[in-house]
Amino acid sequence: MASPTIESILHENRLFSPADEFVQNASIKSLEEYRALAERAAADPAQFWAELASQELHWFKSWDTVLDWQPPFAKWFVGGKINISYNCLDRHLTTWRRNKAALIWEGEPGDSRTLTYAQLHREVCQVANVLKGLGVQKGDRVGIYMPMVPEAAIAMLACARIGAPHTVIFGGFSAEALKDRLNDAEAKVVITADGGFRKDKIVPLKAAVDQALADGGVPSVASVLVVQRTKAEITMVEGRDHWWHELQATASAHCPAEEMDAEDLLFILYTSGTTGKPKGVVHTTGGYNLYTHTTFKWTFDIKDTDVYWCTADVGWITGHSYIVYGPLSNGATTVMYEGVPRPSNPGCFWDVIEKYGVTIFYTAPTAIRAFIKMGDELPKARDLSSLRLLGTVGEPINPEAWMWYHQVIGGERCPIVDTWWQTETGGFMITPLPGAIATKPGSATLPFPGILADVVDLDGNPVPPGEGGYLVIKHPWPSMMRTVYGDDDRYRRTYWEHIAPINGQYLYFAGDGARKDADGYFWVMGRVDDVINVSGHRLGTMEVESALVSHPAVAEAAVVGRKDDLKGEDIFAFVILEGHYSASDELKQELKQHVVNEIGAIARPGEIRFADALPKTRSGKIIRRFLRNLASGEAIAGDASTMEDQSVLDQLRQG
Ligand code: WT7
Repeated sequence: MASPTIESILHENRLFSPADEFVQNASIKSLEEYRALAERAAADPAQFWAELASQELHWFKSWDTVLDWQPPFAKWFVGGKINISYNCLDRHLTTWRRNKAALIWEGEPGDSRTLTYAQLHREVCQVANVLKGLGVQKGDRVGIYMPMVPEAAIAMLACARIGAPHTVIFGGFSAEALKDRLNDAEAKVVITADGGFRKDKIVPLKAAVDQALADGGVPSVASVLVVQRTKAEITMVEGRDHWWHELQATASAHCPAEEMDAEDLLFILYTSGTTGKPKGVVHTTGGYNLYTHTTFKWTFDIKDTDVYWCTADVGWITGHSYIVYGPLSNGATTVMYEGVPRPSNPGCFWDVIEKYGVTIFYTAPTAIRAFIKMGDELPKARDLSSLRLLGTVGEPINPEAWMWYHQVIGGERCPIVDTWWQTETGGFMITPLPGAIATKPGSATLPFPGILADVVDLDGNPVPPGEGGYLVIKHPWPSMMRTVYGDDDRYRRTYWEHIAPINGQYLYFAGDGARKDADGYFWVMGRVDDVINVSGHRLGTMEVESALVSHPAVAEAAVVGRKDDLKGEDIFAFVILEGHYSASDELKQELKQHVVNEIGAIARPGEIRFADALPKTRSGKIIRRFLRNLASGEAIAGDASTMEDQSVLDQLRQG
C-alpha cells in the first residue's frame, strides 16, 4: 500500500477553511450546523429522508412506508408514486425556470447548443413517444450507447418518462462489451449515433452496434434508433434501424410522465467486479431521485446563478447522477462537453469555463495530473475568475495535485469538494459541505448527513483513529443499489458478506480501505480487492484476464495494478503462452489490441510480461501480492514459504 500518494496523504495536515464570502452565501454555513444536521439525521435516518422527500420532490402519491429494510434488501418510500423525469423537467415549467438554460452543450468541433427547460421537456416528450412507437413499454429495457451529445441526456430522460429502465453503455466500450451488457439487460431497443467526435477522430458507434447485433448476437433487440451526429457513412438495416431525427419530426410533444412506484427500476449500470462478468448495478426511482437531488444541492451549494460543469461521461454513474438527474432535479444549468484535451486543443477545458462562465467545476484527479503536466500557461491564459467551487472524484487525490487545483485553477478562493462514492452508492457518501467543513488535501472529510460511515476490522469492530481498516456504511440510504440485476445472491456475497454483521447490524462494504483521523475525517486509501482503478475507472482483474485468455496464444494470465503518475494505476499483465506460441513484441502488441477489442481502450494493458509459471499457493491460488511487487519493480515483500514452487519468482523477476 506504500505508494507515494498514500505516503504523502499519511503525512498531510494542512487545513483549508472556506473564505468568508463563500460562507456568507452558503446554505450550510458552519461545522455546528453540519453537526446538528448529521446528528438529527443519525438519530432517525428514515424520518430525516422522509422530511426531505416531501419538501424537495413532487410525488403523485405519498408513500406508506419510508423504509422497509430486510438486510441486505432495502425498499424506500414504499407505495409512493413518482417520476424522475417529471421532477427534472415538468415541475420547473410552471416557474420562472421554464426559460432558464437546463443544458448547455459544447461539441468537440466547436458547435454548441443550449436547451432551456421548456425545450428539453419538449424533446424528451417527443423521444418518449418515439420509443413508444417502437414498442417500448413500461418495464422494457433500453440500451444507450452514445457520444456526449444532448441526445444522450434526452434519451435517458425519455426512458425514465415512460418507465423504461435504461442501461447506458460507455461509448468507449467495444462491441463485445456492448453485446454482453445488452444481453444481460435483455434490451429491446438500442439508442446510438452514427458516431461521436473524440480527439479529432470519429468513434464508429453504429458500426460497433452492428457488430454486437450481427448473427443474432443480441436476440432481444428489435430496433436501433440512430442520432445523426457526424454524418459519417453508416449502414442502416431495413426494418431494424431508424433515424432519430426522422421519427422525432413527426412525434407528438405531448407525453405525460408515467406514475412510477418509488421502487420501480430506473436504470441498470454495469460496473466491474472481482469476477469476470460485469455486475448490473440496479438503481430504483424514488430514493435515487431524492438522494442525488439532495447531495447535488448541498455539496455544490447550488444557486440559480450557477453554471455547473461535470467533465465525466454520461456512460458512468457520475454522468447519471451529476450531469443529468441531480442538476436537472434542482433546476440547475448543467454543461455537457463532448471533447477531451487533445493535441489540437490542450486548453479546451479552460476555454469552456471562460466561454460559459462556469462557476462550479467537477473533474477527476487523473485529469488534474494531466493538466499539471501540460503546464500552468494554458489555464493562466484564460479567464477562470467565474469559478467559485471545485470538485474531484474517482480516486484518492494526491495532495500535490490538490494544491495545484486549489492554486492554479481555484485561484486560492474556491473550496474543493473531494467526493467519495461509487456506482453502487448512487450519490456522494463522504464529502465536504463546502461552506461548513474545512478541507484537508487528500481527505474526502466527513459523511453526508444521513450517512453512517465508519472504518472497521473484518469482525465489524471500529478501528481506532489513525489505523487503517475497511470503509463501511452502517445504515441503508435512499440511493443504495438494490441488487445486482438478476442475481440477488451475487449482491449479497459481494457487498454484505466480507465483513461480519455486528450486533445484528449489517455493514455495506464495497471494497475500499480507509482510516479516520483524530478529527473524524476519512482518508480513503484505495481498493483492497482485485479491482484496478485506471484513470478513475474501475476494472476487474478477472475481466482483463478473461479477455487475455480468450486469445488463442494465451494459456493463463494474471493482471495487477501498478502505480502510474497519470492514470493512478495502470494494468500490468503476466501471461503464460500456449506451448506452440513464442514470445515476441508483436505478440505483446497483438494481445494489448485484443484486450481493447474485447473490453475497450480503457482496459489496454500498459505492460505485458511473458512467464513460464505464476506464483501460486499450494492450493493453487495466484499470489497477487507478489505480482504487484514484481510489476512495480519492488522487492518481494513477505513470506514466500506458502508458495508451491520457489523458482517461479526468480524467473519472473528477470522478466
Ligand atoms: C471507486 C468507485 C463514483 C464515481 C466515480 C467512480 C474510488 C471514487 C473517490 C474519492 C477516493 C474514490 C473508490 C471507489 N473513488 N471517488 N473521492 N476518493 N477514492 O465510480 O467506478 O463506481 O468507482 O472509486 O475506490 O470504490 P466507480
